[in-house]
Amino acid sequence: MKDWLLRDWCYGNAGRAYQRARVNESRARSSDAREAVSDVRRALAALDGKESFVLGTLGDGTPVRIASREIGRHAMVWGSSGAGKSYGLHLITEGWTATGRRLTLVDPKGETFLLKALAAAAAYESLPEDQRDAFAERFRVFDVTAERVTPADLWSVPKGMSPSLLATLRAAAVAEQSSHAFSDLMAYGIFLLYSVAIDLGWGVTVKIARAFFLDATFRDRIGKKLTDERLRDSVENLETTLPEQTRKAIVRQFDLLLASLPARVSFGLSPEMTRELLPARGAKPTISLGNFGPTPQRPPALAKAMATNRLIDVLTEANVRPRAVPELLLLEEVGVLVKQPAVAEYLLEASRTLRWKGLSIVCVAQDPSNAIPKETLTALRLNSKWLLAFECGRDEALWLLPHIAGQGRSESEERREFTSLMAKLPTQEAVFVRKGLTGFRLRRADVEDPTRRYPRERLLETFESKIAARSMIRAREAEERIARFEATVIEKRETPGAAKSTTAKETKSPGSIDEFFALLEHGRKLGEDGR
Ligand SMILES: Nc1ncnc2c1ncn2[C@@H]1O[C@H](COP(=O)(O)OP(=O)(O)OP(=O)(O)O)[C@@H](O)[C@H]1O
Ligand SMILES: [Mg+2]
Repeated sequence: MKDWLLRDWCYGNAGRAYQRARVNESRARSSDAREAVSDVRRALAALDGKESFVLGTLGDGTPVRIASREIGRHAMVWGSSGAGKSYGLHLITEGWTATGRRLTLVDPKGETFLLKALAAAAAYESLPEDQRDAFAERFRVFDVTAERVTPADLWSVPKGMSPSLLATLRAAAVAEQSSHAFSDLMAYGIFLLYSVAIDLGWGVTVKIARAFFLDATFRDRIGKKLTDERLRDSVENLETTLPEQTRKAIVRQFDLLLASLPARVSFGLSPEMTRELLPARGAKPTISLGNFGPTPQRPPALAKAMATNRLIDVLTEANVRPRAVPELLLLEEVGVLVKQPAVAEYLLEASRTLRWKGLSIVCVAQDPSNAIPKETLTALRLNSKWLLAFECGRDEALWLLPHIAGQGRSESEERREFTSLMAKLPTQEAVFVRKGLTGFRLRRADVEDPTRRYPRERLLETFESKIAARSMIRAREAEERIARFEATVIEKRETPGAAKSTTAKETKSPGSIDEFFALLEHGRKLGEDGR
């Protein structure tokens, strides 16, 4: 009796207790599941609204409509290679631009660019003749072809930006060029050369870089023309600041950097030459597509540098504009763009402050936790208001979990199930989270393949000749223009082929390491003045 009381009455019959527990647990689970469904429904209702578009469907076929106001916020998109990011982003950007909103794509790989280019060409082809021009005018294209290149306009200082900040950022953009990192001294030398080009309204060419670093008479002459006194002082003292060895190393870097035609044009054109050569345009374009994938004309390191420069320009343009304009900035392969701390800082500053200028930044990465420096990643994640995740690893899956409704299982079980679900999520499926709402899994809408309607070659030709050509110039013509300019600023004896200009003064190194750092500090201060 005592035994029965203690065991079955107080604690219950083990068998029955187990049954009861199972029933309770499954009741709890089904109520959790019901709650989860209603949480998702609430999220869908909150996401829908004015100017919405269909991103996909839930498992039961319910359409997922997202209003433009929800997309126009900072965001992160990630997933392994081939998981469906580019196609997903194509759907989102089509929805965003459907009503004429601004879109800027910076694509260091070129695949998302290609997707958008083919779709734009197909749309152009399907329009009646009299509407095609107006459609093509909406696009600004950054690209390189065998004959043409979009001028980067590297040396124009936007109104409201400090020239030294621009020189610092442009120098950071090329720091990834070399297989070994630039020393601080090299970075300082490049910063000075860029500051000079900006101050004088010039471009940068191999001959100009050689003359600047290796020829004292050239420096004397241009020093007199500089409007910035501190810069003049730095240029006059270049020989004591930078040992000859460093100056020669920088010149070698410019030989490499400017070896290709697109590089010579991008760096060599002054702001004035760019204005002269660019075809006149009517309406202001609203869609900017930047292809910075490596091509036969453009080596990978240069492509990355130009992608970084484009990012700098977009952030600066937004920064100095007088009023808010809604614009979605899509940064593909963001890990490539934020390797340099100066650029990462500029992007983070922008993500904190440029909301009121209307800029929303969408960062895309295959493997963010490895591709993006930790601090940058933490800040980007914090600033993101929506997340779109495709098949991905455990770390990235766990970022989503707090936003997903629980299924009534233990924490460790839920974590295990969710990470294994994300690790094998089928292509075209994704998890969407708007912070503050419950996240959900969706199957994305089909993206129509434009090459079913028109041959691929024809679409590429249409894009190049009818849409992209409006933003591009003939590379050979630009090169000739640069050569004419060079001839006016460099006299023959000032372009040393050999190291003839080595003087006793030049080989003299600064006396101590402290002197080096004092001079570097001076250079940095110039850079920081703009912040
Ligand atoms: N919504 C979709 N409609 C039609 N096809 C799709 C869709 N999403 C993905 N696909 C198919 O899956 C393939 C891979 O998708 P996608 O190119 O978007 O991957 P990704 O994540 O951008 O890969 P990567 O990281 O290599 O750039 C596409 O080539 C396409 O065939
Ligand atoms: Mg892609």
